[in-house]
Amino acid sequence: MKVLIGIPEMKAAALTLKARGKTIGLVPTMGSLHEGHLSLVRESRRRCDATVVSIFINPIQFGPKEDLMRYPKDFEHDRAMLAAEGADILFYPDAGAMYPEGYKTYVEVIDFQDRLCGESRPGHFRGVCTVVLKLFNIVLPDLAFFGQKDAQQAIILKKMAGDLNLDVKIEAMPIVREADGLAMSSRNTYLNAQERKAAPILFSSLREARSLFEKGERRAGILIGRMKALIATEPLARLDYVEIVNPWTLAPLDEINREGLIAMALFVGETRLIDNTLVGDERKD
Ligand code: PAJ
Repeated sequence: MKVLIGIPEMKAAALTLKARGKTIGLVPTMGSLHEGHLSLVRESRRRCDATVVSIFINPIQFGPKEDLMRYPKDFEHDRAMLAAEGADILFYPDAGAMYPEGYKTYVEVIDFQDRLCGESRPGHFRGVCTVVLKLFNIVLPDLAFFGQKDAQQAIILKKMAGDLNLDVKIEAMPIVREADGLAMSSRNTYLNAQERKAAPILFSSLREARSLFEKGERRAGILIGRMKALIATEPLARLDYVEIVNPWTLAPLDEINREGLIAMALFVGETRLIDNTLVGDERKD
């Protein structure tokens, strides 16, 4: 596996692969890799000739009160994991090269970026879209792999790719979970032992909503009410939001007719965790 730090070197490598007729798969990450990330690498390896994994803790997607400074980092561990998975290129740019002094250009998917997580993280998706478009322009992927864990992120990026006529296909892959149902996340390392025990409340409340849906309940208000009641039984959990939205537009639903995305964010102690599930035709978890 090659490790490339420079943007021109990465672009040259991508152009060489293209000239040889190879397809490129990109897996963008912020490092601190776990099985969720590796599932994306495996899918890219299965579907593309060459797999590029980027590790870049993107400063512009963190709010002023968020965890940019303490976001977990373990480059050597990440590098070993990616080499063992058979990734072809690890792209590891530095923030000064990605956002040199005088940097002025940002990408926004309006409306979509303000819903769900956007309400408590203003500017977050603008930062995500900007860095992902830059990565697309540097790595020139045919396919790019994202996790359904960050469902809103995947939906917004698909919208960006369509609206801007990008030649990249965006794939959203199923959520990888711990044995007790907690969605894997780099931020799970922030949880102390007690909080870690409380954290599966996210998945159990989603499971409860899904089981009600499967029994025929279609009213969003009833499903959300049941989830909130369950969450209220966990003293370490504080609700940020629970919503049921259209999985293509993120518009809130009163009733789930064909399919719905049930999405939530909770604080467990000081750590903000997200999870979601699709119900209906599109179910993928
Ligand atoms: P990061 O949180 O490192 O996640 C990288 C990718 O892994 C994302 O597409 C995310 O949805 C996926 N992922 C994380 N946990 C997962 C899980 N348990 N199961 C399946 N997939 C999972 O998301 C970001 O980084 C950044 O916003 C990024 C897209 C890299 C832009 O900076």
